Amino acid sequence: MGWKTLDDMDLNGKRVLVRVDINVPVVDGVVTDATRIQRIVPTVRDILAAGGKPILLAHFGRPGGERRENLSLKQLIPTLTTAFDADVLFAADCVGTEAELAAEQLQPGQVLLLENTRFHAAETKNNTDLAVGMARLGEVYCNDAFSAAHRAHSSTEAIARLLPACAGRLMQAELEALEGALGAPKRPVTAVVGGAKVSTKLELLGNLITKVDYLVIGGGMANTFLVAKGVNVGNSLAETAMKGTAAEIMAKADGAGCTIVLPTDIVVAEKFEAGAPHQILPADQCTDEGMILDAGPDSVAAISEIFDQSQTLIWNGPLGAFEIEPFDAATNASALKAAALTRSGKLVSVAGGGDTVAALNASGAAKDFSYISTAGGAFLEWMEGKTLPGVAALDQ
Ligand code: 3PG
Ligand code: MG
Repeated sequence: MGWKTLDDMDLNGKRVLVRVDINVPVVDGVVTDATRIQRIVPTVRDILAAGGKPILLAHFGRPGGERRENLSLKQLIPTLTTAFDADVLFAADCVGTEAELAAEQLQPGQVLLLENTRFHAAETKNNTDLAVGMARLGEVYCNDAFSAAHRAHSSTEAIARLLPACAGRLMQAELEALEGALGAPKRPVTAVVGGAKVSTKLELLGNLITKVDYLVIGGGMANTFLVAKGVNVGNSLAETAMKGTAAEIMAKADGAGCTIVLPTDIVVAEKFEAGAPHQILPADQCTDEGMILDAGPDSVAAISEIFDQSQTLIWNGPLGAFEIEPFDAATNASALKAAALTRSGKLVSVAGGGDTVAALNASGAAKDFSYISTAGGAFLEWMEGKTLPGVAALDQ
């Protein structure tokens, strides 16, 4: 890890350009989940406390290079003001004269928010001229946007090469948590990977089997593995075309000393709806009309036992159709088991991904996990073993 932190930088009296990810959900102008905003507060506070002047660079949604009023960052000012407990000023562009003037006039204790970087088409092309324009606004660059670090954009990559650069507190915490879970973890390490499709998580599975001791596979993707074992899955969601790939993954896992854990019993219904009549069957007994919507109680008991033996857990993806009751049972029970072990100091547990965090929040388990990442795509790419351009650019 060659990156610097805020502690390594001289911040007093300096304008600090902070790349944050405040791409939060907004419904009718109201922020419905401010987690990402709350998680950047330590960085902004620490810069202010050191006498620095934070200038926030961020994207919002995917405006595709056009100025779109509904994707203006202006609407976040009230939420940011409350979160920072400081004055938040605004510049209607992230480069140019108005922004430069606002940056120059910024007073100690104030925060400047710049308009959506993606109003410039150049941003997502990692254009250097745009980065030069942004860099003129500050004297130090701090990247606190781990969840956007899988993007090589002007505000995450090119700019880091133009100013003295460091990681913010959230970036630091994310990298340390992930490094602890997959870099040099305490063993045994268990990964839980769920979700609909094997095809979207191939690289992830390929990397994990070389790193973890147990790989618990759940959700729709487990069905594809059952198909690969010659099991009838009835009407279940499965990618039959991927069964060869699933078989290869199982063979490689064997060679790598990784135990793949598939459901041994299943919850089967004929309709994908809340409360649909269902039965618990052995995993190889799915009916022709049935759909596998969750793992059964024996599978949950086996997962719990593996968690008991593990020291580290990394979780991405639900085990069943967690959005509809009662098919959230395996996800909830396993998540609560992991939470209890974490609480008693026996397990380090890290989770990430939008669906995953929603599922862990719904079960009430999230608050006891060791670390919940703010990242979706970036968390996955990190777990896949990829270099994140926004992190790599901090290595100077
Ligand atoms: C996210 O919400 O996952 C990040 O802000 C990245 O957004 P993007 O997928 O539009 O690049
Ligand atoms: Mg995304």
